[in-house]
Amino acid sequence: MELKPLFLAHLKERLAYAEKALAANAFDALVISSGAAYTHFADDQDAPFRPTPHFRHYCPLTGPHHALLIRPGQKPLLARYAPEDFWYEQLSLEAIWGGTPFWVEGFQVVECASLDAVWEAVGKPARAAYIGNETERAATAELDINPVKLTAYLDWGRAYKSEYEIRNLEDATVLGAKGHIAGREAFLAGGSELEIHQAFAKGVGCLDHELAFGSIVALNEKGATLHYENKRHNKNGATMILDCGARVRDYASDITRTITAPTCDARFKALVAGMEKLQLELCAAVKKNLPFGQLHHQAHLKVAALLQESGIMNVSAEECVTKGFSRAFLPHGLGHHLGIQVHDVGGKLAGPDGTFQAPPPEYPNLRTTRTLEPRQIVTIEPGLYFIPMLLRPFREGEHASHFNWTLIDELSAFGGIRIEDDILVTEGEPRNLTREHLAK
Ligand code: GLY
Ligand code: MN
Ligand code: MN
Repeated sequence: MELKPLFLAHLKERLAYAEKALAANAFDALVISSGAAYTHFADDQDAPFRPTPHFRHYCPLTGPHHALLIRPGQKPLLARYAPEDFWYEQLSLEAIWGGTPFWVEGFQVVECASLDAVWEAVGKPARAAYIGNETERAATAELDINPVKLTAYLDWGRAYKSEYEIRNLEDATVLGAKGHIAGREAFLAGGSELEIHQAFAKGVGCLDHELAFGSIVALNEKGATLHYENKRHNKNGATMILDCGARVRDYASDITRTITAPTCDARFKALVAGMEKLQLELCAAVKKNLPFGQLHHQAHLKVAALLQESGIMNVSAEECVTKGFSRAFLPHGLGHHLGIQVHDVGGKLAGPDGTFQAPPPEYPNLRTTRTLEPRQIVTIEPGLYFIPMLLRPFREGEHASHFNWTLIDELSAFGGIRIEDDILVTEGEPRNLTREHLAK
């Protein structure tokens, strides 16, 4: 389907939700700016720009300093910052989008040649909230800056993806899958972490900072560092964790595969096969009305059963989980909401009023405590790692005899395993967006 009708339906839904959010928080208007770039301390260089996520939720326009003014019952005003500039290229909307942008009809666009012009277009709307980082301008406009409760209300709503957002996430998955195929080939050809990263970015066809997040390319023991972002030059890895995603219209995919080379130890390969099986079972178990925390607990039981089967632990899955042994091998949450942000907002909200729903004490790293509902997109990413600092207390503690330390030490050379897909919750069967484009 064309993007334009998808986007206009998305915007209509967004505006209806914003109206409810404003009414519930005693505001009459909402100003969101795309934001100012972060300038490195004591430097004149900026970090790669990322727009305010809430701005992106309404408008796909790229670049800093634009402002949206949303008022119930009115077409939103978009003050587009478009200065004359000889340092950086400034293009017309048509030039950026290769014709009339599919989204432009949804807005009353005001072209602004300066920051002053942007904020003159915004004016001083009464009882108005502001979301963004241009707080001095917002203060001058007498806006209520980043109100916590309104932001929580909007965050809550961001979990439910429109058809337009699902399309963006699918397109990001298609690109992410291309990158993964290229990265895997580079790994199997003996490439270094840097070369594999470059193959991934080339497969996606973008600059590094345009990826969904800093790529994780971990060969061998580095797989045990969950967010390993270094890029060593050593080649011919026996195993690789490739955790990388692409971005389309500022929506992210987040995909992980653990690949083994023919030289890898057969016992580690069997563990990878076991993780693949249990990951697919967890993906298939995604359904509406299921508290995500319950699925996370299931993941621990499954990983614990694999630890017992493979001879790494000599206790039952139940005991392994209840005594906290499995947490040494799987210290992160099963997954998270996915959208404009890779770790999307609102995962620990109990409702639009902003009530916080903390993870249970036994699983402090769970990123979402919400109950699954149709139109949410979550990642399912169980892992099994050999992390020395987490294993050490058990090696030295009273339960040491439950662990097969010889086997653990031999498998530690291969770091760990993580397999991650992006799943759409529906009224019925879940949709595994990732496997539709990257079967293995
Ligand atoms: N790429 C980070 C994560 O999977 O959450
Ligand atoms: Mn993830
Ligand atoms: Mn990931």
